Amino acid sequence: MVCNDFLKNDWHVVASSQDLLPGKILKVRLLGQDVVLWRNSNNEAVAWEDRCPHRGASLARGWVENDALVCPYHGLAFNGEGKCSHIPAHPEAAPPRKSKACVTTYNLQERYGMIWVCLGTPEHDVPEFPEWDDPNYNKFFFSGVLYRSSAPRALENFIDVNHVPFVHDGTLGNSEYAKTNSYQVEVTEKGIHIHEVGAWQADLTMQGDGNTDRANFHILRPLTVALRRGSENELMTIFFTVTPTDEEECYAWRWMFLNYNVPEQEFNNFTHRIIQQDVEAVESQKPKRLPLDLQAEYHLPSDRATVTYRKWLKNLGVTFGTV
Ligand code: FES
Ligand SMILES: [Fe+2]
Repeated sequence: MVCNDFLKNDWHVVASSQDLLPGKILKVRLLGQDVVLWRNSNNEAVAWEDRCPHRGASLARGWVENDALVCPYHGLAFNGEGKCSHIPAHPEAAPPRKSKACVTTYNLQERYGMIWVCLGTPEHDVPEFPEWDDPNYNKFFFSGVLYRSSAPRALENFIDVNHVPFVHDGTLGNSEYAKTNSYQVEVTEKGIHIHEVGAWQADLTMQGDGNTDRANFHILRPLTVALRRGSENELMTIFFTVTPTDEEECYAWRWMFLNYNVPEQEFNNFTHRIIQQDVEAVESQKPKRLPLDLQAEYHLPSDRATVTYRKWLKNLGVTFGTV
């Protein structure tokens, strides 16, 4: 059953492009639904419901042959459009025209090195990430990281600057600099803008001490956010998007863009540590689904950003992964 939710008509990352090799089938999960991915002979990726229209077998156990995906149960083949193209039990028969003989197909786009799928009718494009085409940035990709918690909890953790001095004390943050400045939050039709949040952060070049500068967050979609911080010579953008696989499970993907140099290996290791610290904090939260009822948890004045996020999700009608 596909959830009937605002998120159904939105785009979600389900895999990195490089993980979907020609000739291979990838099984992924999105909004409680099993999805299969494969590439046709033009190298175009397609996303289908993981269910053969004949007797409901999992197509993920099949194989790619002659530009079609073959179901392993009775060998029916389905072309790139999801139409049945061959029935081994009736090899002479023309391909059936009935829509019942078709696999359910989904919208798919490859963007920013990732595969985005929409299970419903897309109402927007894939979120914008302008730094992607800017050659002045060094790019670092952090492929889907599992959180045994809801996607909204994982997204909220990313925009919650108050946790940085504690969850990341000694790595990214410093508990001696825990005081949060007053910052502005603005909701527009393009999402939520969190302006000028001050937070101490370690020096990512791993050479100097950290400093307190201002960060700006733009929550573009319910589960996608861009963080921009630093000054002209040291700009950093993080493009962070979370895949809601199930109500209480998600994967987070991030692209980090820096217009300055950092020691690659050290920076990657450092970031993986930060991510693990976040995963542990988020997985400890109860309930796993994000409470949209503002009475359910206690809020601080500096929680303005996360409170706005909860209200916004409620207004949009996001129910998957919330309570
Ligand atoms: S269930 Fe797929 S071919 Fe029969
Ligand atoms: Fe964090």
